[in-house]
Amino acid sequence: MQAVDLLITHARQLCVIPPGPSGPQRGRSLGDLGLIEDGALAIRADRVVAAGPSSDLLAAYTAQQMIDASGRLVTPGLVDPHTHLIWAGDRAVEFERRIAGATYQQIMAEGGGIAFTTRATRRASLDELIGLGRARLDTALQHGTTTIEIKTGYGLDTATEIKMLEAIAALSATHPARIVPTFIGAHAIPAEYAGRTDAYVDLVIREMIPAVAEWKARRWPGDLFCDVFCEDGAFDLDQTRRILEAARAAGMKLKIHVDEFKALGGTSLGVELGATSLDHLDVTPDGEIALLGRSATVAVALPTTPFGLGQSHFTPVQKLLDAGAAVALATDCNPGPAWTENMQFVMALAARYCRLTPAQTLVASTLNAACALALGGQAGSLAPGHAADLIIWKTGDYRDLAYHFGVNQVDQVLIGGSVVHQAY
Ligand code: NIG
Ligand code: FE
Repeated sequence: MQAVDLLITHARQLCVIPPGPSGPQRGRSLGDLGLIEDGALAIRADRVVAAGPSSDLLAAYTAQQMIDASGRLVTPGLVDPHTHLIWAGDRAVEFERRIAGATYQQIMAEGGGIAFTTRATRRASLDELIGLGRARLDTALQHGTTTIEIKTGYGLDTATEIKMLEAIAALSATHPARIVPTFIGAHAIPAEYAGRTDAYVDLVIREMIPAVAEWKARRWPGDLFCDVFCEDGAFDLDQTRRILEAARAAGMKLKIHVDEFKALGGTSLGVELGATSLDHLDVTPDGEIALLGRSATVAVALPTTPFGLGQSHFTPVQKLLDAGAAVALATDCNPGPAWTENMQFVMALAARYCRLTPAQTLVASTLNAACALALGGQAGSLAPGHAADLIIWKTGDYRDLAYHFGVNQVDQVLIGGSVVHQAY
């Protein structure tokens, strides 16, 4: 008998979510849950040691602590690879205007949207931003998110972008969730650069990227991503390329907001630059879908965004799967179109509007989402060697996660083998 720290036994369904040959589950192979009935997990320190039938693990391991998961579903913790979780102020007025017919781009062109949130975020103190971020991070964790990406992008000046990174670092140091930071200084053109986008791009390249690289060297040992909003009214293809080439040279990994409203060629650019993920992909042309499908870049669908905008056109996920792409899901949590911290809701939307099966929504929200953060092999799976980040759900059936919506189905959340949340 081998000694471990924790045995979780008798899960009605244990979803191990095995990695695919190259990391994510690609194309039509998406949806392999590695499902074990009456399953058990052996955990030592913060890692999974073994996953298998309860009878096998109970015969092979003794544990200091046991959790009986009888009747319940156990899955990896959810991974949310695209959020704008830290912001000040709110945009309820804009929400009312959008309901009445104003478009996201109209509001953006009038200096609302991201620029509005930027004004409020610049005024907020570091402590205020940490408090606002912590409340949302708690909500995300309570809904099953154990690893989360958080972007800057509501500073749009060097000092406030660094303040946002400091808020992310403070949350990472004090909150159990695993956090991955992304710098997105090129999220919008700030008011003081209106009509001078190239001058702002120069500021991002000459001042912000070096400052962020210097901050990373001092404050952040892990990966740090750089993202750009490549869109009409934001940054064009050439500006996006210049920024991402500078970021890559400064040691950052890459992501791009592409093809949300208009396709500018950002998908081809992202594949060419070796971006870790390309996100949104609502209006990506077929030729670029084929290119993405042949690449190692993860395709992140954000169904909350069209839903939040009251639109009926969603990321063509079926085409992406046919092309062989690694598809992941994320909340895009932000104060504009997509204010939700809840990945369960994303799964419900993706099943209905992207026609993913419940099993596919789960893999896209765990293993493949981890790969969208370059965390394959570490998070998003309960195969041996991965972090013991997991959810014990109230239900015993994985299909309920996408089927039953608008409620929180989490019972317990464990990160690194420790219980960090228990529902009442
Ligand atoms: O991913 N599109 C750009 N960024 C966000 C929206 C952020 C905001 O409106 O505050 C997005 O949808
Ligand atoms: Fe976004």
